[in-house]
Amino acid sequence: MEIHKASTYAPVNIAVIKYWGKRDTKLNLPTNSSLSVTLSQDDLRTHTTATCSSSYQHDSLTLNGSDQDISGARTQACLRELRALRQEVEAQDSNAPKLSELPLKIVSENNFPTAAGLASSAAGFAALVRAIANLYQLPATPTVLSRIARQGSGSACRSLFGGYVGWQQGELDDGSDSVAYEVAPASHWPDMRALVLVASAEKKDVSSTAGMQQTVASSALFQYRAEHVVPKRMKAMEKAIHDRNFEAFAVLTTKDSNNFHATCLDTDPPIFYMNDTSRAAVRMCEAINKAAGRAICAYTFDAGPNAVVYYLADDEARVAGTFKSVLGGVTGWKSDIKTSDALEGMEH
Ligand code: PMV
Repeated sequence: MEIHKASTYAPVNIAVIKYWGKRDTKLNLPTNSSLSVTLSQDDLRTHTTATCSSSYQHDSLTLNGSDQDISGARTQACLRELRALRQEVEAQDSNAPKLSELPLKIVSENNFPTAAGLASSAAGFAALVRAIANLYQLPATPTVLSRIARQGSGSACRSLFGGYVGWQQGELDDGSDSVAYEVAPASHWPDMRALVLVASAEKKDVSSTAGMQQTVASSALFQYRAEHVVPKRMKAMEKAIHDRNFEAFAVLTTKDSNNFHATCLDTDPPIFYMNDTSRAAVRMCEAINKAAGRAICAYTFDAGPNAVVYYLADDEARVAGTFKSVLGGVTGWKSDIKTSDALEGMEH
């Protein structure tokens, strides 16, 4: 029985201007634009192989060896859109095999903790969408794939691009303009580095979907953030990146992480994603910057306690060295993580 197959990697992206809040929960349309940095696939990535065959009984997905429920509306939306694009290919070329009619088997592996606030769903849905797009030989651009991946997990749309990536919230109700775009390639600022500190590898207690719902429903601070804080920060962050101005980048990154976590605290009941280890990492960064006399490192936290700290390669000793002097032999942290382009190491 013939099996058609394609594989791809997708990297993790860590936002420096956070996406938090949906204006449309079905289409994953955000209440504000966001911006992220795509990290190296050597360190944090999902590898996905998509196959399809008439010998399979039904669509299936395994992640790190365990079966996943794919009946949810998000995954179904991605599969439906990809199949529709494949049907267009089949309609135009009568010799094209009818892959859209065959059950899919998707096998994914993450090389980092899943659902612990390390953007696992971002890499996961980006890899799923691109692996199936490769399998179907779709003539789809990263922008089109970002629109599809967004429906799986909002932040996934940014993992289809490398380097510094924006996600414009868009204005249209059908979400067709809510897509990711490249702000600058990884090569624009090659000495950017990240340190990841896994404060807990446990699954987070409030999922980002539930947390966003609660925030939109009950936080007044959130309204202010979406309308007045983020639009200005998006512009300032794009400028900081274009100018390779690390101090401006660092100040905006830490402020935006704190502002996002403040909106979580402002909900009813309050949500605490950061823990004591997270707060110790914040204090360590503050101390490093104070000793340097300027911002040489920037912390940020997603919907979980794990810290990501950005810094420049020249400051490896001062930033990662300080973490090393405190954390020593503790496992669960890694420095010197580079930025990457989204298609690095891609296989067909
Ligand atoms: O993509 P989601 O639905 O898992 O939401 C991710 C939200 C944050 O990671 C907290 C922020 C972001 O912009 O990635």
